[in-house]
Amino acid sequence: MSTLFDPAPFRARRARVLEHMQKNGGGVALVATAPERMRNRETAYAYRFDSYFHYLTGFAEPQATLVLIADNNNPRSILFCREKNAERETWEGFRFGPEAAAAQFAFDEAYACNELAERLPALIAGGQPLWCAFGHEDEASGFEALCAALIAVRRNGRAGWCAPATLHDIRHLLDEMRLIKDEAELALMRRAGAIARDAHIRAMRATRPGRYEFEIEAELLHAFRAAGATGPAYTSIVASGANACTLHYVANDRQMHAGELLLIDAGCELEGYASDITRTFPVSGRFSPAQRAIYELVLAMQHAAARATRPGASFDAPHEAAVDTLIDGLMDLKLLTGSRAEIVDTKRWQRFYMHRTGHWLGRDVHDVGAYRPHDAPRTLAAGMTLTIEPGCYIRAAADIDPAFHDIGIRIEDDALVTPDGCQLYTADTPKTVAEIETLMQSAQPTS
Ligand code: GLY
Ligand code: MN
Ligand code: MN
Repeated sequence: MSTLFDPAPFRARRARVLEHMQKNGGGVALVATAPERMRNRETAYAYRFDSYFHYLTGFAEPQATLVLIADNNNPRSILFCREKNAERETWEGFRFGPEAAAAQFAFDEAYACNELAERLPALIAGGQPLWCAFGHEDEASGFEALCAALIAVRRNGRAGWCAPATLHDIRHLLDEMRLIKDEAELALMRRAGAIARDAHIRAMRATRPGRYEFEIEAELLHAFRAAGATGPAYTSIVASGANACTLHYVANDRQMHAGELLLIDAGCELEGYASDITRTFPVSGRFSPAQRAIYELVLAMQHAAARATRPGASFDAPHEAAVDTLIDGLMDLKLLTGSRAEIVDTKRWQRFYMHRTGHWLGRDVHDVGAYRPHDAPRTLAAGMTLTIEPGCYIRAAADIDPAFHDIGIRIEDDALVTPDGCQLYTADTPKTVAEIETLMQSAQPTS
């Protein structure tokens, strides 16, 4: 963690949660971080905190729980975390311990995590509402069982305290808050986008016939870590030739050949925030006429989707604009024949474009936020962040002109909805045919 850590944005988010709780019956909120996970014998995965917990705390250690008390007279936030332990710190590294954590992260109180079970009954007593993320995929070990046990005590009726009668899923509130990014979040997302841009440029420069996909993946990893990102925000997709038509291809083990395209979908995680960029470019530096035609079409889809991304528009509008552009383009290229109405009706275009045009982006690369609150598409608003990532994937088939076989193209940028439209803040990653060909030509060995 940076020595310049500023607890203010995290404290402000906790204050907003407490205010919402106070307006809705008060009570106590419990937000646990993620458990540590074993990879294989005696070896753990690199630790990744829970996104909700970190959003409210900035605290990155495992075995921690945030408790928010929405008492009208004394609203406060309490952290339970690991104690200092000289021996464990020799093996695993620095721990704040409750006292230093309270000071650095601006909690009102902090205690050792092994005191949680003992202190919780008193904290949630009095029949106050309980706000939790029940059944959350990253639920910390034993946390939900602990709450269930506490609530069961009431049924037994002998504990002498009154357990919560009302349970709220705190994710309804936190998801809505996370959907609109604050200034601190946007600064990190822009930095994560710039690091991913530089990684894509490095990867383009390193690509040439005869190299393997994993060599290019290594360039991405180098660029992410060298710039201070934690690492990839998701497994990088480095897909050459026909592999680009496999949407979640991650084997990255094929040798690349002249005449093929390389699709790279890669982004980094920086202080808990993701970037997510896709670029597709020719391995040998020049697009074939068929590759270029599909590339220009996907670029036109992205422009259409970006024009449709603005406050007041439906979340579905960018996708609909991209699909309209795709149908026109594929009809012009004779890859779709028949009447437009019939193509729309039967959705035959889905043979070439089988995913949606974007998703929320934030702490999680597929970030939280209901896409259809109240069963209708979400209305976009300033401060939302999402990807705009149209594609076109043409597998080899007898009814397709061989010039188009195995062309898989996706172009993905990260967008902020602004008061009057949207800003693609990763768009300076080389994207036009001219930009890509110029960069690729300048990077080819001269001898
Ligand atoms: N990289 C994951 C996605 O584009 O959705
Ligand atoms: Mn994406
Ligand atoms: Mn992506």
